[in-house]
Amino acid sequence: MPTPIRWGILGPGHIAEKFAEALNHTAGVVLEAVASRDPARAAAFAGKYGCGRYFGDYISLAEDPSVDVIYIATPHGFHLEHALLCLERGKPLLIEKPLTLSGAETSKLTDTARQKNLFVMEAMWTRFLPVIRTAEKLIREGRIGDLRMVTADFCFRGTQNPEGRLYNMRLGGGSLLDVGVYPLSLFQLLLGNPEKILSTARLAAGGADETCQAILQYPGARSAQMISGISFDSPVTATISGTEGMIQIPARWYRAGALSLEPRGEARQAFSCPVAFNGFEYQIREVVRCLDEGVLESPDWPHSMVLDRFKTMDLIREQCGIRYD
Ligand SMILES: NC(=O)c1ccc[n+]([C@@H]2O[C@H](COP(=O)([O-])OP(=O)(O)OC[C@H]3O[C@@H](n4cnc5c(N)ncnc54)[C@H](OP(=O)(O)O)[C@@H]3O)[C@@H](O)[C@H]2O)c1
Repeated sequence: MPTPIRWGILGPGHIAEKFAEALNHTAGVVLEAVASRDPARAAAFAGKYGCGRYFGDYISLAEDPSVDVIYIATPHGFHLEHALLCLERGKPLLIEKPLTLSGAETSKLTDTARQKNLFVMEAMWTRFLPVIRTAEKLIREGRIGDLRMVTADFCFRGTQNPEGRLYNMRLGGGSLLDVGVYPLSLFQLLLGNPEKILSTARLAAGGADETCQAILQYPGARSAQMISGISFDSPVTATISGTEGMIQIPARWYRAGALSLEPRGEARQAFSCPVAFNGFEYQIREVVRCLDEGVLESPDWPHSMVLDRFKTMDLIREQCGIRYD
């Protein structure tokens, strides 16, 4: 890979702004080009983030030989379509969460990437943050004994627009895929595959789950609980409990800069784990590391883990009657 690694952004919307800021604050990378369906939007974004080139369509970006890797930031209903468009043209990818809408779509995407010998990673940025690395380390060191229970919520009051991506099923609407994916990714990382799931959801008129709750049981007397929602705020905290203590990650846990460890019968200990910039730099560095090493997936957020998490999400969707076309 050349240095700096030249990035393209496909879909310059809300989250792409945060990503572009992080690119501009990360060593060894450069924002090379941006593509929007609207040339004026692409031009404005390119101007704002100091990138030289822009396109009024996605294919031109995918075919640009000066772009080494593409970040896909369109609504998740289009991730598979836009990923295939780029993979067919030989581009490695970082794709916003959730990678696709389902396990079937994820298999199709990752199989294609493997056949084409191209790197793909889901942009589950939380997984790479110092706070999650610190929690993993404490668990590994046995500081809370045997892991028994993980709870995490992620609810916020979003814009109640039936055409917007939160409520429009064509764009992948609903809380489970938008924010439930964060607790479920944490569970996948810490607990593996559940053996039993009990879930329920409240659906809005168009079919999007406004709130979803799941209780999951794992081998070894372990369990987890999650709540996701897009029409009200919740604490957005996480607790990881073991036989000898617990770890508490304060609001907003998925991007927190600290956590506390409370060993059983002892005083609470604080751990500071701030992010260097806005948190997106860690997933960018991980992609750079993987491209430099020539691997096709991140060992820390591998395709198998994402696929297994989708199997859980598919089952929750089935239990709750959440359907996409
Ligand atoms: N990591 C995080 O913290 C985080 C936070 C929020 C969202 N996300 C994820 O990022 C993705 C995008 O979310 P967002 O809030 O940034 O979305 P957004 O602003 O509503 O849309 C992003 C872009 O998608 C493009 N797009 C392409 N086809 C579209 C269509 N048919 N309808 C609407 N837009 C279309 C548009 O780009 P052009 O029209 O300019 O081509 C739009 O600017 C989602 O998958 C979401 O889950 C991640």
